[in-house]
Amino acid sequence: MTTEIGVGVVGAGWMGHLHARAYARLPHHVTDLPLRPRLVAVADPVAAAGADHVTRYGFARAVTDWRELVADPSIAAVSVASPNSTHREVGVAVAEAGKHLWIEKPVGLSSTDTAAVARAVHAAGVQATVGFNYRMVPAVARARRLIDDGLLGTLTHARFRLLTDFAADPSGVLSWRFTQEHGGSGVLNDLAVHGVDLVRHLVGDLGAVVADGDRFVPRRPVAPAGASQYVRAAADAPTGEVENLDFVSVLGRAVGGAIVTLEASRVAVGDQNDYGFEIHGTRGYLSFDFRRPGELVVAAGGSYVDQPATTWAAAPGDGDFALFQPGAGNPTGFDDLKVSECAAFVRGIAEGRSGGATIEDALAAARVLDAVAESVDKRAWVDLG
Ligand SMILES: NC(=O)c1ccc[n+]([C@@H]2O[C@H](COP(=O)([O-])OP(=O)(O)OC[C@H]3O[C@@H](n4cnc5c(N)ncnc54)[C@H](O)[C@@H]3O)[C@@H](O)[C@H]2O)c1
Repeated sequence: MTTEIGVGVVGAGWMGHLHARAYARLPHHVTDLPLRPRLVAVADPVAAAGADHVTRYGFARAVTDWRELVADPSIAAVSVASPNSTHREVGVAVAEAGKHLWIEKPVGLSSTDTAAVARAVHAAGVQATVGFNYRMVPAVARARRLIDDGLLGTLTHARFRLLTDFAADPSGVLSWRFTQEHGGSGVLNDLAVHGVDLVRHLVGDLGAVVADGDRFVPRRPVAPAGASQYVRAAADAPTGEVENLDFVSVLGRAVGGAIVTLEASRVAVGDQNDYGFEIHGTRGYLSFDFRRPGELVVAAGGSYVDQPATTWAAAPGDGDFALFQPGAGNPTGFDDLKVSECAAFVRGIAEGRSGGATIEDALAAARVLDAVAESVDKRAWVDLG
């Protein structure tokens, strides 16, 4: 028997749209769930953004204060898709109200915030899923399986990259992402956090890091309230200071011994969502590019030298591929990743466990990023203990 679960979404921006659509699409793709989401309320201080969600997705109502949503007894699960600076207060309040939590990365401004949300989740005994959507790519699920099966042998070295240009234009306004108060560490929280999660998911925990980073666009036009980074300003608009990093390069040593590099840039002119990785082991290699999400390049076989690489098409059996398409080679998209994440969240609630990436995963990633920031400041290796 299927029962309804009332859901609320905090933040009606890009990720708010994806969470709302994922709840709405969940029953189209997953038919064996005992819970069916009902869109009860969306909260955003920009009333027009909430009203737009009501019109598009059929939420029963929009509110401008998230507290009203959290207090609603008909809501049992809440998505937090508002800026990083709100994650701690909203996430803790959601858990303390006994509601399940689907929260966007990075879960706060630093590991102090993430730890507070984790404590509240554990104390309340609610389920929590975190928006590390790149784990959900079917080809990434295949990569994880091949590594677990030992196809690559012992992992030796790996490169992870998250290079994009969303902040490359200096006329892009000083949105919440560019301030310490609302965005925290900048590209570390924007992008590197996804890379750290993929490193942990595929290679394992990092034991030590050394990093350097920079801010290449030091000032931006002051933003109108609620503006996203995609808003552009006139050349003569007053400007304010960008307070966090645009670029970071990290060298890390995994606990298991592999050496990992991770590069993240939000100002990489000419690169749009150039996210991917190459992982080498003693017997094989694999590589993935998010712009070709249905493909995984694998070289393994035992000849070591001159070993050819093969491109495998993601197929039913790879992660949640079969929820979306019946046969190999049909691409899945970003929205599909959020449907998978939503499925893991709701299935977890039904089964009394946290599905997908957990709050512990977010805390582990946040601790790595704190160490990366410390290394940039100190210009030295930092041990993760
Ligand atoms: N998983 C991913 O791949 C991914 C991608 C982008 C963003 N994110 C994360 O999602 C979150 C939101 O990012 P976005 O790109 O959607 O931002 P956005 O700027 O597009 O939207 C943020 C929305 O939150 C609203 N908001 C601001 N303060 C609020 C408050 N106190 N209560 C409720 N709503 C509030 C804003 O008005 C805006 O509508 C961030 O934490 C970001 O790190 C994750």
